[in-house]
Amino acid sequence: MPMINDYNDFIKKVYDLTDIDLSMYKPRQMKRRIDSLISKNNSSNYNEYYKKITTDENLLKEFINYLTINVSQFFRNPAQWDILRSNIIPKIMESNENLKMWNAGCATGEEPYSLVMTMADFMPLTKIKVLATDIDEEVLIKAKVGKYNDKSLENLPKTLKNKYFYEKKGMYYIKNEIKDCVVFRKHNLLSDPYPSNCDLIICRNVLIYFTEEAKDKLYKKFYNALKPGGVFFVGSTEQIIFPRKYGFIPIRTFFYKRPDDKKKDGADGGI
Ligand SMILES: C[S@@+](CC[C@H](N)C(=O)[O-])C[C@H]1O[C@@H](n2cnc3c(N)ncnc32)[C@H](O)[C@@H]1O
Repeated sequence: MPMINDYNDFIKKVYDLTDIDLSMYKPRQMKRRIDSLISKNNSSNYNEYYKKITTDENLLKEFINYLTINVSQFFRNPAQWDILRSNIIPKIMESNENLKMWNAGCATGEEPYSLVMTMADFMPLTKIKVLATDIDEEVLIKAKVGKYNDKSLENLPKTLKNKYFYEKKGMYYIKNEIKDCVVFRKHNLLSDPYPSNCDLIICRNVLIYFTEEAKDKLYKKFYNALKPGGVFFVGSTEQIIFPRKYGFIPIRTFFYKRPDDKKKDGADGGI
């Protein structure tokens, strides 16, 4: 095998091995994380570490899990969820009651389950379906189990905690009636085809890790994945700088709409 001399060589090899294109992630942050993992694994260079991850499946899993950064919480940034509940969902539901919802970069499940609990204010659980995707198979396994510590529940209203969770040995388990509303799937935002005709797409605290070039591509894909009138909900540090460049209408901070039709949608996008 030819020697891997530097970070750029390393990420090319990782792309061949995993289909994850690390050149699309902000290099300073990613390099720092990878370098620290390499020294934690007692490897002295990229070459040595690469050999280890190609021969030890557990190390490869650890590598993918480490570089994808999976922190999450129920109702992370609660004020934004209040806007979703009080303004965005009622408006979308004026024209359609059967919502197609996609949560991209769902990590360990706190976000799609928060969406289900929010939607339960509007319709019976049996009618709610959320597609939740992530590149990291390990987090999807945890999401399906639905077991959480106190910290992830910090922003969860007590009524919802009592209604939809049960406690066992200090851990909180989400009930099946909520779990059954979510379909989890592995999906790479950089390379896999996107769903279409979505009424609501939530992708929060994922795009911050990507380069400007990658974000430019992904915004276009998210726009196309929405139905006219559909809404894209981003994270609290992820405002789109020029939303109209992609066709989006900013409707509230962190919420962007694909216009219904050009005549009807004014500057506020009708929400
Ligand atoms: C910080 S977590 C965000 C979790 C949740 N959305 C939230 O805001 O609490 C970022 C997630 O993005 C996922 N991710 C990173 N790169 C991805 C990619 N190319 N395609 C899909 N998911 C990706 C990671 O695996 C991780 O679970």
